[in-house]
Amino acid sequence: MNATVALTESKTSATTTTSARIDRIELTRPDDWHLHLRDGEYLPAVLPHTVRQFARAIVMPNLRPPVTTTVMALAYRERILAALPAGSRFEPLMTLYLTDRTTAAEIDTAVASGVVKGVKYYPAGATTNSDSGVTHVDRARPALEAMQRLGLPLLVHGEVTDTSVDLFDRERAFIDRVLAPLVRDMPGLRVVMEHITTRDAVSFVESCGPEVAATLTPHHLLMNRNAIFVGGIRPHYYCLPVLKREVHRQALMDAAASGNPKFFLGTDSAPHARHTKETDCGCAGCFNAHAALELYAEAFDRAGALDRFEAFASFHGPDYYRLPRNTGKVVLVRESWDAPVEYPYGADTLVPLRAGEPLQWRQLPEA
Ligand code: NCD
Ligand code: ZN
Repeated sequence: MNATVALTESKTSATTTTSARIDRIELTRPDDWHLHLRDGEYLPAVLPHTVRQFARAIVMPNLRPPVTTTVMALAYRERILAALPAGSRFEPLMTLYLTDRTTAAEIDTAVASGVVKGVKYYPAGATTNSDSGVTHVDRARPALEAMQRLGLPLLVHGEVTDTSVDLFDRERAFIDRVLAPLVRDMPGLRVVMEHITTRDAVSFVESCGPEVAATLTPHHLLMNRNAIFVGGIRPHYYCLPVLKREVHRQALMDAAASGNPKFFLGTDSAPHARHTKETDCGCAGCFNAHAALELYAEAFDRAGALDRFEAFASFHGPDYYRLPRNTGKVVLVRESWDAPVEYPYGADTLVPLRAGEPLQWRQLPEA
């Protein structure tokens, strides 16, 4: 008798779930709060992918040479605007690359420009094009104090470069050694911990005041470190900070779906030519701009949290950056399509995330 009741109940709930399945998502047009657009011949190859989905993006400054001054940021912004597809609207939000020599006066100039919205802190040697980064946080003190005074966010690549620290522990070590002391010493400094990958980072950000926030990538929400080794070594799933254990992925997904405004969308779409990834010492970075919203939708769907997707994608970021929320809409439908196996990338090619494999959501073209 009891068994029959239980069976009926589970059948009923399955039916309810099916009928309540969400097949269409309408979102306020989102922004990407961490993006690599590159430069030269690569810029027009990747920019249209982002423009299709996002109204604005925080553009990373790790070019060669890095964007260390406002003058350079303004020139880079012009190159981005010149590369926009005809008739499109997109606002690049520029960043400066922090070095040991960045002055307080440069921070004043950056804020006065109105186009620089953050300053990127790469520990020297931590990731792609980070050689000119900060060698010790104390060296950046004058710039950081000016940023605290002016409310300009510091965007942090949170990994130590100490090779004696296990690669998978470098984010936690950075929090302990650099970030926690920094936040303690400069409580007014606004800090975005970029592309967080561990539950330690989630707990740290949660424990801080409203000045400290974090971005989350679609690949860190969808995959754990096993993805790098499925059937062999998969260079296109290698990025920094590297994918972590499942327990960390779950903590990231919980944070993204929590509704906590400290956590928001930042794709870290980081294109590299195919031959620079498929080689004996491949570059770090995953290209996901071809399907960023589709990948995030899949992650939120899997977590049963589609009702939390819009705030994460479209509200928390502009609120943190003290910018207006966008007014347009984007629509995604549940529809399977295969990601292309590659895209043109200047004279090279680019392998996107999920290349040749099915995606479960599709953004509809603008009406
Ligand atoms: C980024 C790149 O390629 O510029 N790579 C990456 O693995 N994420 C740099 C970065 O954000 O760390
Ligand atoms: Zn990045």
